[in-house]
Order: sequence, then C-alpha cells, then structure tokens
Amino acid sequence: MGLYLVTGIAGFIGSALGRALLAQGHEVVGIDNLSTGFMENVPAGAAFFRGDCGEAASYAGLLPRRPYDAIFHIAGQSSGEVSFDDPLLDLRTNTGSTLHLLRFSLETGCRRMLYASSMSVYGEQPDGAVREDAFCRPTSFYGVGKLASEHYLRIYARYGISSTSLRLFNVYGPGQNMGNMRQGMVSIYMSMLADGVIRVKGRPDRFRDFVYIDDVVRAFLACLDRRESEGRELNIGGSGKVLVKDLLDRLLSLSKTPARIEYAGETPGDLFGICADPALSRHCLGYSPQTDLDAGLAAMYAWHTGRDAG
Ligand SMILES: NC(=O)c1ccc[n+]([C@@H]2O[C@H](COP(=O)([O-])OP(=O)(O)OC[C@H]3O[C@@H](n4cnc5c(N)ncnc54)[C@H](O)[C@@H]3O)[C@@H](O)[C@H]2O)c1
Repeated sequence: MGLYLVTGIAGFIGSALGRALLAQGHEVVGIDNLSTGFMENVPAGAAFFRGDCGEAASYAGLLPRRPYDAIFHIAGQSSGEVSFDDPLLDLRTNTGSTLHLLRFSLETGCRRMLYASSMSVYGEQPDGAVREDAFCRPTSFYGVGKLASEHYLRIYARYGISSTSLRLFNVYGPGQNMGNMRQGMVSIYMSMLADGVIRVKGRPDRFRDFVYIDDVVRAFLACLDRRESEGRELNIGGSGKVLVKDLLDRLLSLSKTPARIEYAGETPGDLFGICADPALSRHCLGYSPQTDLDAGLAAMYAWHTGRDAG
C-alpha cells in the first residue's frame, strides 16, 4: 500500500482526498496550518502535523521513513478576492509552498507531485470552453500564483519529479466551508438561502463549470494510475457551462422557503465566463464527471441543512 502526503488536509478538498486514500488502505500523512481548515475535518487514521507549507521549519515533522509515493499539494489560500487584499501573502502561502514542497520532494526521494491548480490561470478567454493549450493571462494575483506553481512543477521535471496540475473549476459539495463568504460560488449562495436574500456580485449571465467534490477526488486518484497524466496540466470540470442565474434557479428550487435575489457590485479579478473543455483530461486520465449538477446540489443541500438542524 502507498504512503502519501496530503497538504491542506484540514480543508474541503484535502480532507475528502485524505479519506479516499485511507479508504483504499493507504497510509496518509497530512499537514495544514488551519488558516481556513478545521481540525474536525482531518480524517481519522491520518497522521496530522500542524504547520505552514511556506515555512522550511514545518518540514522536519514530515520526514518519512521511506519516500512518499506521491505528494498531493492541495493546501493554499483559495480565494481570488483575498489575493487582492494581500498579494504577498498569496505568493508566500501558495507559490512559496509549492517551491518548499518541491525541494522537500527532492531531498526525501519523492518522485510524484499532484497539484490543485485552478481555472483562474486562464484569465478571460474568447470562447467559453477553454482548452489547456489556451494562452494563460490570469486576472487575479491568485491566478498568477497558481500559474507560477505550475511552471515551477514543470521545470522540476528535469530533477526527476513528475507532476500533474489539475486545473479545478468551481468545486462544490458536502464538507465545503459554508462560513467563508469569499470563496465558493455554490457554498456562498447556498448559505444565503436561509436569510431569504441571496446577494450576487456580478451579472446573472456570467457562467461557470461546477464540479462535485467526489469527481475531483476521483480525478486526483486517477493521476496515480495514469502515466499519460504525467507532466501535464488538465482541466477538471463537471457541469459544463451553467449561467449564474441558472445555478440560482436550481438552488431556489431546492429550498422550501422563498428567497429574493439582489445583484450588486462585483468581485475584483473575477472572470466573466469560463468552462472546461474536457477532451484532454478524458484522454489522459479517463476522467469524466459522474455527478450531475442537480444531484450534487441536492446532496450538498441535504448535508448543509442536516448539519444546521443537528
Ligand atoms: N474549491 C474550489 O473551487 C477550488 C477551485 C480551484 C482550485 N482550488 C484549490 O484547491 C485547494 C483546496 O481548496 P479548498 O476549496 O479545499 O479550500 P480550503 O480553504 O477548504 O482548504 C485549503 C486548506 O489549506 C490550508 N492551508 C492554506 N494555506 C496553507 C499553508 N501555507 N500551509 C498549510 N496549510 C495551508 C487551509 O488551512 C485549509 O485547510 C486550494 O489550493 C485551492 O486554491 C479550489
């Protein structure tokens, strides 16, 4: 069985991935600085270290008795908006962490790195569905940092570290942080349903591609088996093109109580519309999303409301 390091294991995606690896019988070591994650998310059975991946001192506790079979680098501040508050913090915590991890991989003999990149690397694109070979021109510091991380990973291939960067589109599902009002379109709007007013930044005809958490986990796991994924950046989408107003309609139909929608303001650096061209990830990973948007939203809503009632 494998030995894996998961960064960001106390967060939404890292914890789901950690649970899936443990369920397959693997050994999991996790690190998180608990900046946006929670101790209760850390999967039972994982060895946990509290530390910041952007600081060299954090790595002493992670030294393995044999090289990790792979490192899943999931930790990061995940908000484009937050990257405008403090671009240096974003650089240190996201891109700096990638560099620290790459050096740690080299020093400890790990040869495989899987990275949680983002659709934010693309910036505005002329057509909706974007291919991996599109010219990247990020519109947020967050996107710049994710793109820089991808390049660092690519260049480290010359030292024998093979990487795959998954460009995640809008991830949603049970386990998402419903209290974070600066990241996660589905989680933000769903959490506002109970207030009776959904405050939406930007226009209703903007669009996104929503991908359910289980599909994201499946994509990361597939990277371990599929050699064709090595050295690549791959889109991980789910629903295809869905307008914001369509997402809102679906959310309203889930809720028993009516809610009003108010459009006001916008988010700095936010993209107008983007969705994934799925061809390359299908070819290299055998990836195709298994959960359609309505089923995924229903599962998340049941989790969210059940949690509130409990
Ligand atoms: N959720 C999405 O829609 C989405 C989309 C594209 C990419 N991503 C990327 O996926 C990753 C996980 O996102 P998420 O939605 O699970 O967010 P999250 O905030 O739930 O999880 C991130 C975790 O990383 C931890 N963390 C942050 N900086 C750290 C550091 N320097 N050292 C150690 N731990 C640190 C946080 O405490 C948190 O537990 C992020 O890198 C994010 O940029 C997420």
